[in-house]
Amino acid sequence: MEAAIRREMILNVEIVDLLNKQIMLEQKASSKYLAMASWCDQRELRNSAKYFYDQAEEERSHMMKIFKFVNDNGGSAYSPAVQEVSHEFESLRGIFETSLDAEIEVTNAIHHIFKKARQVGDFTSEIFLQWFVTEQAEEEEKVRDILDLIDLMGDMPLKMVDERIPTE
Ligand code: FEO
Repeated sequence: MEAAIRREMILNVEIVDLLNKQIMLEQKASSKYLAMASWCDQRELRNSAKYFYDQAEEERSHMMKIFKFVNDNGGSAYSPAVQEVSHEFESLRGIFETSLDAEIEVTNAIHHIFKKARQVGDFTSEIFLQWFVTEQAEEEEKVRDILDLIDLMGDMPLKMVDERIPTE
C-alpha cells in the first residue's frame, strides 16, 4: 500500500463547496475587521481598535479551522482571495452596526450549511459546525451589547465611549 495514499473523502461534495464559500466569508470578515481597526486606530480609539484587531484575528482563526477541517477529511480547501473592503465609516456606532450585519451574514451562512449537512446526512460536518453555531450566537450578542452601551452613553465624547468598549 502506498504510504502517501490520499485519505478518502468522508464529507459530502456539496457541503465541501459550501465550506469553501464559508472560508471566503470568514476571510472577508477578517479583512473587514482589520479596516475597522485601522479607522479606530487612526482616531486614537484604542479600545475599539484593539477590539477590532482581535476580531480580525478571531475570524482568521475561524477561517483556518474550516480550512483544516476540509483538508483533514479528504476534501480540497481553497485559499481565499483577499477581497477589497471598504475603509469608509461614518461613526463608531456605524462601524459596530456594520460589524453586526457582517456577523448576521456569517450566522445565516453557518445555519444554511448546518441544515444542508443534516439534510444530506453529512454528520461529520454537522458535528463540526455545532461549535460555529454557538460561537456565532455569542458573537452577535457581544456586538449587540456594545451597540446598547453606545446608545446608553448618548452624546458622550467618543473617547469616553471608547474607554467602555470591552477589550477581552
Ligand atoms: Fe467567524 Fe464571527 O464569524
